[in-house]
Amino acid sequence: MMSKVKIGVIGAGSISEAHLGAYVNNSKVELVAICDLNEERAKAKAEKYGAKKVYVDYNELLADPEVEAVSICTWNNTHAEIAIAALQAGKNVLVEKPMTTDIDKALALEAAVKETGKKLQVGFVRRYSANTQVLKQFIDNDDLGEIYYAKATCFRRLGNPGGWFSDIERSGGGPLIDLGVHVIDVLWYLMGCPKVKSISGNTYNKLGNRKNIKNLSFYKAADFDPEKNTVEDMANALIRFENGASLAVDVSFTLHAQKDDITVKLYGTKGGAEIEPSLAVISEKYDTIVNMLPQVDNLSFDFVQAFQAEIDHFVDTCLGEKETLSPVEHGVEMTKILCGIYESAAKGTEIYFD
Ligand SMILES: NC(=O)c1ccc[n+]([C@@H]2O[C@H](COP(=O)([O-])OP(=O)(O)OC[C@H]3O[C@@H](n4cnc5c(N)ncnc54)[C@H](O)[C@@H]3O)[C@@H](O)[C@H]2O)c1
Repeated sequence: MMSKVKIGVIGAGSISEAHLGAYVNNSKVELVAICDLNEERAKAKAEKYGAKKVYVDYNELLADPEVEAVSICTWNNTHAEIAIAALQAGKNVLVEKPMTTDIDKALALEAAVKETGKKLQVGFVRRYSANTQVLKQFIDNDDLGEIYYAKATCFRRLGNPGGWFSDIERSGGGPLIDLGVHVIDVLWYLMGCPKVKSISGNTYNKLGNRKNIKNLSFYKAADFDPEKNTVEDMANALIRFENGASLAVDVSFTLHAQKDDITVKLYGTKGGAEIEPSLAVISEKYDTIVNMLPQVDNLSFDFVQAFQAEIDHFVDTCLGEKETLSPVEHGVEMTKILCGIYESAAKGTEIYFD
């Protein structure tokens, strides 16, 4: 019988549900252990998903020889520290986005991957979604030509998840590091990961978390608390790349917008493409503009499908059957971009990279 990859999940809050649900659906996995600072939460998840061991201290989970690989689903500021400890304990790692909150930690994590030779996958889940992978085939076959502009908007009109998400010490920032990371990363990936040349960014803290608003529900941290809010509520940026391409992005936790808005689009010399709100490839044939709608089960980002694909890919990476689509080097570049936007916004000027 094929041996199974033995998994531990560290952090048993909201997003751990997506990891745990996908692990138990994967026949190559045995879910072994769950860890959370909140023991009751870890116990409840262990019971629900059938994990036999519960830990409160992640070091104890990492010292467990039965655990071969871990998902890290904790606060952003803890990702690098836990991931490095896991790699050094001989475990393969799937670390949630953002990979970490500053460039020194990102480089230390990259060094740990190299030193230990263990696998690390960054949880850039949108790379794994069906609409992204279908579009990637069009791009790899040059249907878009040279991609010179990309644009993403991810606006929540009301959606500050509170708790650690809005505490800059634990999150590293607001909607930019939480939501912006997804849309910037998927565009950067589809553009072929060009080297960043300069960044001009702005952040705004004008509306607060709007805890006064009634009658609307939204994503909340496991320990929701609207009292502390030290993160921006809106950010925008223009990123220039060495190949001449540019990427514009704007994101919010809250904004006076009529509704939430997500658009993710790329424009090239031979064609354009939209992945959000819905997959489309735009081209020109015989002097006529043609809008193509590739047929996949869900034309938009499908959370459940994408998480299953991400987890399945990680498991296959652990088994040596696949290379990850989201390696640590890409996590380092994304950290550079996110921190660059915050730096540019703080200085009020464009910043340049060598
Ligand atoms: N990929 C996605 O679409 C997506 C969506 C939501 C969140 N996330 C990411 O997942 C991570 C967790 O987010 P969430 O929404 O689940 O938050 P959450 O607040 O719901 O859960 C976080 C959990 O981590 C636990 N924790 C924190 N530090 C710990 C430590 N040192 N050891 C053990 N447990 C610890 C907390 O007690 C809490 O239960 C974040 O990095 C977030 O950016 C990703």
